[in-house]
Amino acid sequence: MNISEVISKTRKKEALSSEEISWLVDSYVKGEIPDYQMSAWLMAVCINGLTDAETSKLTIAMRDSGDVLDLSGINGVTVDKHSTGGIGDKTSLIIAPVCAACGIYVPKMSGRGLGFTGGTIDKLESIPGFNVEMRFEDYIKAVNSTGAAIISQTGKLVPADKKMYALRDVTGTVESIPLICSSIMSKKLATGCDCILLDVKCGSGAFMKNKEDALKLAQLMTSVGKAAGKKCRAVITDMNEPLGDAVGNALEVIEAAEILKGRKKGRLYQLCMGLSANMLELAGIGSYDRCMELAENAVSSGKALEILEKMIYNQGGNGKAIYDYSLLPQGIYKHEVTAKESGYISGINSERIGIAALMTGAGRENKESHIDHSAGIVFSRHTGDHVSRGDVIMTLYSSSVRDFTESAKKALSAVSYSSEKPEVQPVIVRKYI
Ligand code: URA
Repeated sequence: MNISEVISKTRKKEALSSEEISWLVDSYVKGEIPDYQMSAWLMAVCINGLTDAETSKLTIAMRDSGDVLDLSGINGVTVDKHSTGGIGDKTSLIIAPVCAACGIYVPKMSGRGLGFTGGTIDKLESIPGFNVEMRFEDYIKAVNSTGAAIISQTGKLVPADKKMYALRDVTGTVESIPLICSSIMSKKLATGCDCILLDVKCGSGAFMKNKEDALKLAQLMTSVGKAAGKKCRAVITDMNEPLGDAVGNALEVIEAAEILKGRKKGRLYQLCMGLSANMLELAGIGSYDRCMELAENAVSSGKALEILEKMIYNQGGNGKAIYDYSLLPQGIYKHEVTAKESGYISGINSERIGIAALMTGAGRENKESHIDHSAGIVFSRHTGDHVSRGDVIMTLYSSSVRDFTESAKKALSAVSYSSEKPEVQPVIVRKYI
């Protein structure tokens, strides 16, 4: 086979065969196709797309480039959830213990964040002692004992995605629905769960800026998942403003604990209940409404909080940190950002908040950057709230950056105002697909 021919075929919108796709992925992983030719192919995909059948084949070829985990050692139905990324998304820390409290198993492999804010793994690493790298046998044991464990993805899983994503990141080829689908689904299929729930984010802080594209990605991912033999479903959720009150690693752990204590019932709680109900229904626990009731009971009874505590102890962390927040990293410096005008907040742009959070030290500019686990932003006001000039809208925290001039400017630029009360979009845009 010839790489120039493969590139020309995609450039001319001619479908590739399974053999050509497997050869392309395999040869690239082995280093037999250089980056410049792979980037040309990726750019052709970005411009022309792939057929759904090609996307399925690409996903399977990528999945098979490394280990595919065998979770048969887990004592029941396993369910995974993946979010396509957003600002302030700490849902995994909440839904894993909620679903475990309702009797299903949530073995989760997550990533570190690159870019605006930390990933789930960075959030968990803000808990003193928390170990995200377990031997596979210990991971299975941990899942069997508490119902949930969250560890970082091993290097042996989907090496094709690792290499292709790094290349896409520097060649302007990230934003392509078939490439995003194959990247996410290859990893989800390799991690081995029976059921997969996809939380497809839509809005200013998401890859998919509008509902149409979010729907296309959701439909493509679910059909690829089902074709690979998984029970698979997607939910479309709003990412026009950051999720919840906190953006930043330790700050998000605190917010997750507050949700599990039943102290916050806003958009983040509603989203987590919706995601959990979908996961439970996918796992065959009952109807959506019954599963919603079970998820809410897991919070109100305190059972989910207990499971989070056990999960933290199981993974070497100090479980007391979810009761005594002073055990978590604390921002030494803080800065309040106040309303520059009076009126209703008509929007809080997620992307700008993400950049402001990165400027406080909450994210990584590159793989080598050090994360300040104490850093980030806590909102006291949200879209739809009325503010008077001078009211505090958010507080910025950091232990690594003392001067908040630029981060505060960026954070303030995210806020827009109107004289009329704006309509606030529900957090769950489409219940499921
Ligand atoms: N997340 C991924 O894992 N891959 C993508 O391509 C985009 C988001």
